[in-house]
Amino acid sequence: MSQQSQSWNSRVGLILAMAGNAVGIGNFLRFPVQAVQNGGGAFIIPYLVSFVLLGIPLLLVEWSTGKYGGMHGHHSPPMIMQMMNHRKIWRYTGAFGIFSSVIICSYYCYIESWNLSYAIYSVLGVFNGMGETQISDFFAAYLNVSVDNFIPLVSFLFCMCLNIFILSKGISGGIEKVAKFCMPMLFIFGIFLAIKACSLTAGEDGAIFDGTEGLNFLWTPNFDSLDNPKVWLAAAGQIFFTLSLGMGAIQCYASYLQKEDDIALNSMTSGFVNEFTEVIIGGAILIPISVGYLGVDRVVELMQSGGLGLGFKTMPYLFEQWGGVLSALTGLAFFGLLFFASLTSTLALAQPTIGFFSRSYEWTQKKSSIFFGGILLVMALPCILFFDKGVFDEYDYWGGTISLFFFAMIESIAFSWVMGVDKGWRMINDYAELKIPIVFKYVLKYITPTLFIVIFVSALIKPMNDDWSLLSFSGWELDNSAIIAELMHKGVDPNDPSIFYLDMTRILLLIFFVLICVLIWHATRTREENSNKRFTESHQNTLE
Ligand code: PHE
Repeated sequence: MSQQSQSWNSRVGLILAMAGNAVGIGNFLRFPVQAVQNGGGAFIIPYLVSFVLLGIPLLLVEWSTGKYGGMHGHHSPPMIMQMMNHRKIWRYTGAFGIFSSVIICSYYCYIESWNLSYAIYSVLGVFNGMGETQISDFFAAYLNVSVDNFIPLVSFLFCMCLNIFILSKGISGGIEKVAKFCMPMLFIFGIFLAIKACSLTAGEDGAIFDGTEGLNFLWTPNFDSLDNPKVWLAAAGQIFFTLSLGMGAIQCYASYLQKEDDIALNSMTSGFVNEFTEVIIGGAILIPISVGYLGVDRVVELMQSGGLGLGFKTMPYLFEQWGGVLSALTGLAFFGLLFFASLTSTLALAQPTIGFFSRSYEWTQKKSSIFFGGILLVMALPCILFFDKGVFDEYDYWGGTISLFFFAMIESIAFSWVMGVDKGWRMINDYAELKIPIVFKYVLKYITPTLFIVIFVSALIKPMNDDWSLLSFSGWELDNSAIIAELMHKGVDPNDPSIFYLDMTRILLLIFFVLICVLIWHATRTREENSNKRFTESHQNTLE
């Protein structure tokens, strides 16, 4: 099947696939954790402001450039970036898109496999009768892959093959069909869990507080956060991650739109479906259940170590409290929901690479999908085998946070200043069925790029204790979480053995990035040679 002939079959399919792309583990595990870590109600205002000033503008940028790229036969970030400006350098900025998507996909597909295993364990009643510590230890033991503990690896390989199989069926024959099944299932499971969580009553089934206690914590606005850069950074980061922005996943899906397809209405619909799923459904599961059983303080403490821990170490224990069939059902619904959410996201994460191979080398969908599977396996193995050495977190930091943010910043500058916002605005409004308020044109031109630069520079050189007074005579001491400080392992004991693994991971990531750049160079040459050959052949045919 040639990449050119592919497109989405129906509007429902397109919206569900785009929503499936965005709705992921981030909606159910990352969002609640970010909200709790940043003060509950304090998080919501910066989050919604980031959605309007960064999320919506970038959705418009990725949908419109993706669609126009597709109309010119481009289905991967390097070629789409080059379409905005013909200078060669722009093509190489697209390497960040391929880089982020492959790196995220390699750890994301692993989490997908945990969900599959845990859904099966829930149905089989493996957690029945286990105490809180036993369930928590079970997760730690699960992640310790060895010759005796090979199930995580088998589960990962199964998920990887499932992805390759679906991807090889193409856009409408594979991805769209899967989204049409997975997304409704996800909503059914999500609504069931949200109702169960919010109707939790203190004193019943072992709960200490009502389910509404957690909702109050999340939804009581707290204006103190507005001058705290840390909360803003977390909110902006969550918006990117949840909307799948900054890696070309949206662009590549949009590149299969048809000429007369609208951008404004479709992009807003899928963006809002994601936000509804995150804020309303995602906000109504993890926090109400865990606060209902453990109280706000304990949940804040547990969430300091992230959402994955809470989801896999604590939730199965809390589901146990409902007893028998109901606990198996809630376990299945929770991990099934996360499995469907991650499957529709890993399919999207594969597109930048598959689009690149199938267009640049004129490979079939099947060949590109298998090749992608090979890359995924190579990149995921260190993450699986050296999970406890911090490789997983390192992937998430460089691939899932920094590179993604950097690429989003470049996209927004390229769109508004290099290609020109006037042309961009016309692309957004071509065949539009919904009129985007003109104020967004100015947001796109001035506010979004400025915010990106400010946030990026702040993250790069964040000072200790958030003390931004440049006039401080004590010098500029970097905070341990500043990007430059992370690069130098600031605050980590130099004798810590994990430093070796972190450095090895960084070298691997760097080599991978350089390889992508070399491939882009090679692919461009091959493409030019192919088109020259075709031109000469057709010229000769005309002469004959
Ligand atoms: N948006 C997904 C989530 O919320 C993550 C993701 C990022 C998926 C990028 C695809 C592409 O979990």
